[in-house]
Amino acid sequence: MSNIIVLGSQWGDEGKGKIVDLFAEKFDVVARYQGGHNAGHTVQVGPQKFVLKLIPSGVLHSGKQVVIGNGVVIDPQALLDEIEMLEKAGFDPVSKISISNRAHIIFPFHRLVEKVSEGRTDRVAIGTTSRGIGPCYEDKIGRRGLRMADLLNEKLFYSLFDDLAADKRTVAEAFGLDAAIDYEGIREDYRNMAEKIRPMVRDTAALLNGLIASGKRVLFEGAQGTMLDIDHGTYPFVTSSSAAAGGACTGTGVPPTKINGVIGVSKAYITRVGGGPFPSEDTGEGGNIIREAGLEYGSVTGRPRRCGWFDVPLLRYTAMVNGFDSLIVTKLDVLDGLGDLKVCTAYNVGGVITDEMPAGNMLLESVEAVYETVPGWDQPTSGVTRYDDLPKEARDYVALLEEKTGVEVGAVSTGPERSETIVRPGSRLEKLLG
Ligand code: IMP
Repeated sequence: MSNIIVLGSQWGDEGKGKIVDLFAEKFDVVARYQGGHNAGHTVQVGPQKFVLKLIPSGVLHSGKQVVIGNGVVIDPQALLDEIEMLEKAGFDPVSKISISNRAHIIFPFHRLVEKVSEGRTDRVAIGTTSRGIGPCYEDKIGRRGLRMADLLNEKLFYSLFDDLAADKRTVAEAFGLDAAIDYEGIREDYRNMAEKIRPMVRDTAALLNGLIASGKRVLFEGAQGTMLDIDHGTYPFVTSSSAAAGGACTGTGVPPTKINGVIGVSKAYITRVGGGPFPSEDTGEGGNIIREAGLEYGSVTGRPRRCGWFDVPLLRYTAMVNGFDSLIVTKLDVLDGLGDLKVCTAYNVGGVITDEMPAGNMLLESVEAVYETVPGWDQPTSGVTRYDDLPKEARDYVALLEEKTGVEVGAVSTGPERSETIVRPGSRLEKLLG
């Protein structure tokens, strides 16, 4: 019985929501291990489109449990809004969701601090989603954050909140923002929200380990992507959590020995939102064509995504730090009819050709992508249900990605619908899914 991690291999928005939603059928539980409502997982169910930010995609399936692990940071208002959205659409999320009592809580002042930090003229803006994610993780690592367990204990909450507020007051005063924060109002709002959230909060590490011991299958869902991981990504242009596969263990309390496989999700090309290095970015016509064909606009912020060509050195690097067993290539249909395609196969770093990922941000900014050009295809890939029926050039393109990255492509996705995913017979992916 395998428990697997599904995560993004690039800078997020790889289409994980759809993949997790599709595979959820084969698992008993879907667990989120990091990030917060900065993530946007788009799932299309027939005519209905859902953008899930905090709640794992498995919630759209009947009979599945979903877990928001201790590694996730939670804005209670965003959580309740998402629950309401699902209830209005006819789902019953509350009976399915378990929230870790160790998950940290985002407060409105986290967003305010982030706004100040992003607006500073003496620093380069990261281009965050402005959800207060980074400042909340700062408080977590600084050992002054508040967790779900604290929120549910009225007496303790008041005293811990007041300590944190005193801390924030110092910062807010320094930036002339103190008058903008109604600490008492926030305290009361959060106490009220606590009672609505209480029925879902529990020790999810105990829950998950117990379920695994009884033979249930867990799918761990990563948010963002490996290149946004706080340790392995393009620091400092990253999110503030462990998006890579290792984060699944620290972010849920399930040990590595209980995880049987890691599946990477990658677009057939590549996108990024926010600032930071992007070696294979196409800032010309090619990038615009991909953006329009792939509707590449942020699902949380609506920002146009930066677009570029498949980056082999990046994928080899993310395959290494995550240990991918298999790769799922999404949005292959976006390349239909685009003509010749470029693939970045190496980096030119100051005249030295390499396929290694430089750690230094300045160095990565200066990298020039080395491209191979391969023939595209005219026939549509969307609507194709058998891998062998894909246009020959599309199969050759996938074969090239496999050869260059050293990772099997276990499935391709050719459209937003659940049905528009082709799992390759005999692949490792198929075996892992069981
Ligand atoms: P933060 O996560 O809001 O702190 O933003 C940090 C960086 O991560 C910014 O470049 C964001 O655009 C990026 N980011 C955060 N969440 C996502 C996501 O779900 N998809 C793509 N990029 C994201």
